[in-house]
Amino acid sequence: MSSSGTSMKEKLFNLAVSNIVSNAVSIGQRLDLFKKLSDISSEKNPVLPEQLAQAARCKERYVREWCNCMACGEIIEVNEEEKFWIKEENVDALGNSCFELVMNGMMAPLLEPIDNLVECFKKEGPLGLEYSQFSNFQSFMGTMSQALHEKHVVSDMLPAIGNGIVEKLEAGGVRVLDVGCGSGFHSSLLAEQYPKAHFVGLDIGIDAIKQAKERKTKAGTVFNNLEFIECDAGKMPKIWTDSFDLVLIFDACHDQCRPDLCVQEIHRVLKPNGTFAMVEVLGSSNVFTDKSTMGSLAAMMYGCSMFHCLPVGSNCSEALCMGAMWGQKRAVDLLKKCGFPEVRVVDTPYFPINLIRLLERKIDILARPRNPPRLKRNGTYAIAEFLGSSNVFTDKPTMGSLAAMMYGCSMFHCLPVGSNCSQALCMGAMWGQKRAVDLLKKCGFPKV
Ligand SMILES: C[S@@+](CC[C@H](N)C(=O)[O-])C[C@H]1O[C@@H](n2cnc3c(N)ncnc32)[C@H](O)[C@@H]1O
Repeated sequence: MSSSGTSMKEKLFNLAVSNIVSNAVSIGQRLDLFKKLSDISSEKNPVLPEQLAQAARCKERYVREWCNCMACGEIIEVNEEEKFWIKEENVDALGNSCFELVMNGMMAPLLEPIDNLVECFKKEGPLGLEYSQFSNFQSFMGTMSQALHEKHVVSDMLPAIGNGIVEKLEAGGVRVLDVGCGSGFHSSLLAEQYPKAHFVGLDIGIDAIKQAKERKTKAGTVFNNLEFIECDAGKMPKIWTDSFDLVLIFDACHDQCRPDLCVQEIHRVLKPNGTFAMVEVLGSSNVFTDKSTMGSLAAMMYGCSMFHCLPVGSNCSEALCMGAMWGQKRAVDLLKKCGFPEVRVVDTPYFPINLIRLLERKIDILARPRNPPRLKRNGTYAIAEFLGSSNVFTDKPTMGSLAAMMYGCSMFHCLPVGSNCSQALCMGAMWGQKRAVDLLKKCGFPKV
């Protein structure tokens, strides 16, 4: 039994259910299904999957499986007529791009190179993974950074840096470097906010820089005060010495193979008395402490680190293999060793997973039915199938979380593989008793 009174088997089963439901939430977020559902339905006016599918320009059968999984997973509501709606109090959380919703999309990009990651664990296996093995990472990271930071970078984070930085950005003439800028969310936000200051986003990833440059023009505004450069943060251009007033890093130090070289380079390119602010993941450098102070967030962040940050930051023989949870102590030690003897740590309660470490140079203070087999007369045909009533409203109370898991599994696999030809019956795993018996009778087995 765990401390919450649940047996380990129950706990493992609940985890499996949450995993499927969470990934199905992400499909809904990507297709804007929650928003569309809240636009067209309410408790008084619940809708059929067909209506939602029409509003979202999607196929009704897939949307139905998604609705079934979401209802059995207690994310949306269902009635006896198998009509759906979102509870008033949940419309906001499900209808916008809040961090808690966006986080459910994290596992799909992280799991892309799962087989390679398993090999990395083995003694004779590769050292780590390449960023390019995560083909959707940059766009996911951009969405997550926006959900995590957008509301607070300008209003809370910059003032927390102090050192007159807001006034300097407003006055203009200052140069700002965003190290490991990814798809450029932060630099674009700041460049728009402070038109008189000049911003440079630097990233080692070709894909990151391509997406960052696209971001610059997609919004319809082309900023003249913003440029993106593909470059290794451990080897910045020589001519940058003493040229930046402010250097920012948003969650991009711990996953570099050599964060030490990066910090040394930041020290070199900062103007004397320039400011370096590093937004990093919360953590103490001790898992026992993290477990008690951070709770389930610690489990999530150690997991994210294992799936992504650690393997990309371990991918060369001299790598420091920090991982996202390197924490306060290791980060401060490295910063001090690399030229910043005084580190000021600022708590950022408005950022769910981050804090800031601030440093100043020199003064040194511191981010988808088979045909039934032909049987002999009097032969026996036994079909083992999933539980289910053919009505999601009945499945929900009788099967509990198992219904959520099975509608989810169906949506991710049984339905798409069972829908892949123009005459497909599109049953899905949860076709249930009624639909299965009807089909068996129609296909030569009157007694079931
Ligand atoms: C977790 S992402 C953060 C991206 C962005 N700052 C954000 O918060 O949305 C880390 C970024 O660091 C970049 N990176 C990793 N190693 C690097 C290096 N040696 N030089 C420059 N960028 C690097 C990666 O390509 C990736 O875009």
